[in-house]
Amino acid sequence: MLHLVLTLLLALVLQTSLGAVIPHNTLNKSCYLSKYRFPVFHETNAVLRMREKFKATKPLADRKCTGNIFHRNWDMAKLSVPDRVMLVKAELNLTTTVLELPAAPSFAKTRQQPLAFLTQVQNDLQCWMDTEAPSHEPSEKLSRWLNNLQTARETTHSCLEASAIRHIFEVLNDLRCVAFEEQCN
Ligand SMILES: *[C@@H]1O[C@H](CO)[C@@H](O)[C@H](O)[C@H]1NC(C)=O
Ligand SMILES: *[C@@H]1O[C@H](CO)[C@@H](O)[C@H](O)[C@H]1NC(C)=O
Repeated sequence: MLHLVLTLLLALVLQTSLGAVIPHNTLNKSCYLSKYRFPVFHETNAVLRMREKFKATKPLADRKCTGNIFHRNWDMAKLSVPDRVMLVKAELNLTTTVLELPAAPSFAKTRQQPLAFLTQVQNDLQCWMDTEAPSHEPSEKLSRWLNNLQTARETTHSCLEASAIRHIFEVLNDLRCVAFEEQCN
């Protein structure tokens, strides 16, 4: 009990002293992206488990659809930071849409945690756009890619699902780049 109180007090002292150094506008911004620089073990592990489960339950879909819906032949570090945020937001939008499709109960259970995590990330990216680059328009390169992704959404559900889940770690890697902002290159 005493230990808990001490911990709380320490947290409070730290917060107060940090509050003095960190400018106010960064403090009340809950959508800072640097928290995604280093993957959190239990989240990554949940995604991995989901991907394994998908492969085990739908091996055929995975074999038939070999394309990568997120494919691009350029380096995202060449884009501006707001462009990168938009790119990952679109990738996550598609990924979560696919994960929300009706599924067998066992898969539905496995996808719960990744879905919650990816939705949270998406909200943070949206919040970042709203506060940091509210009137940003995508570059031509990104617009073209976004259009292709939009077209890819029209492929059959099972293919979309297989492709999105197979490439989910690439999306998480893109998120890392976003989290490093200017330092990703
Ligand atoms: C910080 O909080 C104030 C008051 O709630 C709000 O008006 C402002 O937009 C916030 N700033 C950021 C960067 O979120
Ligand atoms: C996801 O994309 C769809 C289709 O492009 C769009 O209608 C929807 O508003 C997007 N959702 C979010 C949360 O951005």
